[in-house]
Amino acid sequence: MWTSRAAVLRRTGVPMTIETLRVGPLAAGDVLVRVRAASLCHTDLEAIEGALAVDLPAVLGHEAAGEVAAIGAEVTGLAEGDRVILSWNPHCGRCFYCERAQPILCRTFLANGPRGFHFDGKPRLSCDAVPVHQLMYLGGFSEYCIVPEQSAIRVPDAMPFDRAALIGCGVMTGVGAATRIARPGWGDTAMVIGCGAVGLSAVQGCALAGCGEIVAVDPNPARRQLAQSIGATRAVGPDEAAEVARSLTDGRGADLVIEAAGVNASFRLSVEAVRPGGQVVWLGKVAVNDEVTFLWASLMREKRITRSSYGGANPARDFPMLARAYLDGKLKLDEMISARIGLQDINDGFAALKRGETVRSVVVFA
Ligand SMILES: NC(=O)c1ccc[n+]([C@@H]2O[C@H](COP(=O)([O-])OP(=O)(O)OC[C@H]3O[C@@H](n4cnc5c(N)ncnc54)[C@H](O)[C@@H]3O)[C@@H](O)[C@H]2O)c1
Ligand SMILES: [Zn+2]
Ligand SMILES: [Zn+2]
Repeated sequence: MWTSRAAVLRRTGVPMTIETLRVGPLAAGDVLVRVRAASLCHTDLEAIEGALAVDLPAVLGHEAAGEVAAIGAEVTGLAEGDRVILSWNPHCGRCFYCERAQPILCRTFLANGPRGFHFDGKPRLSCDAVPVHQLMYLGGFSEYCIVPEQSAIRVPDAMPFDRAALIGCGVMTGVGAATRIARPGWGDTAMVIGCGAVGLSAVQGCALAGCGEIVAVDPNPARRQLAQSIGATRAVGPDEAAEVARSLTDGRGADLVIEAAGVNASFRLSVEAVRPGGQVVWLGKVAVNDEVTFLWASLMREKRITRSSYGGANPARDFPMLARAYLDGKLKLDEMISARIGLQDINDGFAALKRGETVRSVVVFA
């Protein structure tokens, strides 16, 4: 057993508290990770606000990187000291969906993930003998966390922890939406709606996939500027976006639209800005009981619409490639880190994310 300082969410809508938890025991297939960096994603914010139901008390944080501190008896693929990025989609490899290469729908993952326990249904964290849940098998806002072996993906030692953390959710989701889900044609015209970490990563995914024009859409001028600095060929506000897509394509609309804002208006815009026969990938979320409305005409004419969680990720395949792309200068991550903060400042970090002031704040552990 170990102890760890962690940010604990005890009730939605109130600040997390920094507490010392007991960590363990380490089951045979588990890995103890010393977390070195964990970034603040919009999905954590949804859990804090109660839009995403999470059993409490819980440690949030699902975009994290660290080093392996100990391994369970049956762990064969990792060793102490390995540098790892955490994946929030461990999967069984044997169920109906895993057999059909849809690990994000894995039955075992979905049976246990929302409860915040491990595959065996048991907790690994506790406080005064009361179990503490781990968001998506991880709980990165903690000095140490125990994760299933397949949630710890080894990356090169040269990969800095704070930038590695971003790959674990936002970057994988955005880059994967283009490179794994949409797979646009070379020279295609793409539009990305929303320029947070997910959208900025989608812009880069479109560039890596060979798109020609890449139009970034965001009401925030600073975000538009950032998008242009990392590969968008144009950046516009939502009101002019559909018209710009048509003006670039002889009136047709964009070949590919990736939605990464998570508001009603952006889902509508996505189907209005895409061309007949084009592709739309939705990444954003509204609250599960919210309704999103469309004009029926905007859905007609062979448009292909996909809602994707995690951008078609296969973390074991994709994380090392994304880390390599960063180290080779092909994927820009430094630009997405707005602030490096201590664990004690995490509530302020989420307040800044909510106000739209930060792309990503990263909690850096000593
Ligand atoms: N599918 C997944 O697996 C997955 C993973 C992570 C996050 N998400 C979701 O993706 C979305 C984006 O996440 P993020 O962390 O980048 O969030 P974020 O809040 O950092 O970024 C959202 C961006 O959208 C912009 N925006 C707001 N209204 C807009 C509009 N009408 N048109 C265009 N842009 C608008 C904001 O200015 C902001 O720059 C969220 O809904 C989040 O929940 C999905
Ligand atoms: Zn499965
Ligand atoms: Zn996330």
